[in-house]
Amino acid sequence: MLYNMKALLEKARESSWAVGSFSVANMEMVLGVLKAAEETQSPVILQIAEVRLKQSPLEIIGPLMVAAAKNASVPVAVHFDHGLTIDKIKQALEIGFTSVMFDGSHLPLEENIAKTKQTVELAKEYGAAVEAEIGCVGGSEDGSKDIAINCTSPAQAVEFVEKTKVDALAIAIGNAHGNYKETPHLRFDILEEIKSSVDVPLVLHGGTGILPEEFVRCRENGIKKINIATATFDNVQQSVRRAYEEGNISGYYDLQAAEVEGAYRNAIKHIEIFDCAGKAHLI
Ligand code: 13P
Repeated sequence: MLYNMKALLEKARESSWAVGSFSVANMEMVLGVLKAAEETQSPVILQIAEVRLKQSPLEIIGPLMVAAAKNASVPVAVHFDHGLTIDKIKQALEIGFTSVMFDGSHLPLEENIAKTKQTVELAKEYGAAVEAEIGCVGGSEDGSKDIAINCTSPAQAVEFVEKTKVDALAIAIGNAHGNYKETPHLRFDILEEIKSSVDVPLVLHGGTGILPEEFVRCRENGIKKINIATATFDNVQQSVRRAYEEGNISGYYDLQAAEVEGAYRNAIKHIEIFDCAGKAHLI
């Protein structure tokens, strides 16, 4: 069932669970994530970032994601992650994505606000939700840049939400994309201040490598969407490698099954930590 992302996040706000937003690059990852969501009866978000379209063109993977969501027995939102250009955001909306992110975190605040407002106006025409980012999450989605972490200013978060009317706000509290060099310890003081000052669901990027107990504290303090990308890609690779080492691959379709299995196991693990299992019926 294809759902607007707002419906999932607003329901999660009523309690302490959060929705997993899993980055996918091919059909096998889509199948693995949805198998986990259906088995655990969890709402889920499928996403792809603009920088990943080099490998997975939007006009091909986009319709696949939307079709898979429609075909699923649980609520699934399809999200365009880290949109950088209005053109690509519009293309995602045309394809049927139910949520888009405009990432202006690298821009001066006023410009981030102006471009986010433009995205909100555009998404309205399609009935889709909008996520934006303020402060800077470290690293970059495809590892091509080593962006420094710049924690979100709670005062700027208030101004940003008031002026843009976004549906979800991604914040920086010590989180970064990719595998962390050292175990991250998030700034819960900043999270709590933002949570008490803005009235929107918050988003945590850079989910790979965050400790389970920190995820729990996040979801108890207003984080309602948690992005996981690197862990999915790593788990798919490891699953395939293990299947070869154990002699379980004797043809292409065994390889395909190992990919699905890797994405499935990773999604199951996170759905449990996010306490999202069994929540599908609430939406
Ligand atoms: P990770 O690759 O660290 O899981 O980050 C995912 C993410 O935030 C995608 O936007």
